[in-house]
Amino acid sequence: EKEHQEKTKVKNIQVIELGKYEMDTWYYSPYPEPYASLDKLYVCEFSLKYFKKKKTLLRHLAKCELRHPPGDEIYRSPAPGPGEEGNPAAADPQIAVFEVDGKKNKVYCQSLCLLSKLFLDHKTLYYDVDPFLFYILCERDAEGYHVVGYFSKEKNSVEGYNLACILTLPPYQRKGYGRFLISFSYELSRKEGKIGTPERPLSDLGQVSYRSYWTRVVLDVLREHKGNLSIKDISEMTAIRTDDIVKTLESLNLIKYWKGDHIISVTPRIIEEHLKTVTTQKTIAIDADKLHWTPFM
Ligand code: ACO
Repeated sequence: EKEHQEKTKVKNIQVIELGKYEMDTWYYSPYPEPYASLDKLYVCEFSLKYFKKKKTLLRHLAKCELRHPPGDEIYRSPAPGPGEEGNPAAADPQIAVFEVDGKKNKVYCQSLCLLSKLFLDHKTLYYDVDPFLFYILCERDAEGYHVVGYFSKEKNSVEGYNLACILTLPPYQRKGYGRFLISFSYELSRKEGKIGTPERPLSDLGQVSYRSYWTRVVLDVLREHKGNLSIKDISEMTAIRTDDIVKTLESLNLIKYWKGDHIISVTPRIIEEHLKTVTTQKTIAIDADKLHWTPFM
């Protein structure tokens, strides 16, 4: 009932200013009064503190010392090598991922949840951030680290979730960052030696993004092993839960049932056909050697 009330609440804040961007919001977010009644909110891109007026934001920025999220930098993309600057392959933006503990940086994580609710319609977590870790993806330049998106993850998920909530801020969407974050969440699961799945329900955009990620990963593994492996093998290699793999294979029509078991049914030619349709995707590779992280204990 409470959830229903939240969902049907009328969108309050229409626009936010964050760093160099102005963004139209998508959904209601329970910012405290008087901020909730404003048409436009000014948000500090480093601390995520919010303000009623541009003037107050500027005054804050003059003394705010943060130039990155308040946590540990656990990943940084490799810098272009000498003479590589003009090379298109090296033209990807410099990115970094920070791990922020909801308990240690409560206000920052609450502000992040309020901000992300503006673009998520069913999120219910805003204030009880202690049980979560937040992985903040940033673009890095001379001015600092600019927040692009994030995902949250329960410190201990009984259900085996490896991701609670994911967001790419609108100016950065459709550039491959969502796929990067999803891939990062599975990379963490692999380091933990666990299999994971995102928390349900998925939004429509969450659904298409995951479907696209799973399809690509499953096809790549099938190609590499010429189709000679079981669903359990794929799951162990990719940290993707078996029922997510089964659904992906079903959608590609690559699965058969034999005496109650799922059997992968595929030829190299069919794999190549499917891969042709997905190779246009923008991907930002993760260099696993650049991930400095140990699981939460
Ligand atoms: N229309 C159609 N397909 C889309 C769209 C879209 N608007 N956005 C993403 N996709 C699909 C595409 O298949 C895309 O692959 P492509 O490159 O072949 O087109 C794939 O998703 C991944 O695209 P990315 O660029 O990597 O994803 P993006 O950075 O845009 O982030 C995300 C995806 C995080 C879902 C973003 O749309 C978002 O933040 N949405 C609002 C918040 C939300 O709904 N989050 C998920 C909630 S569910 C949960 O949190 C567990």
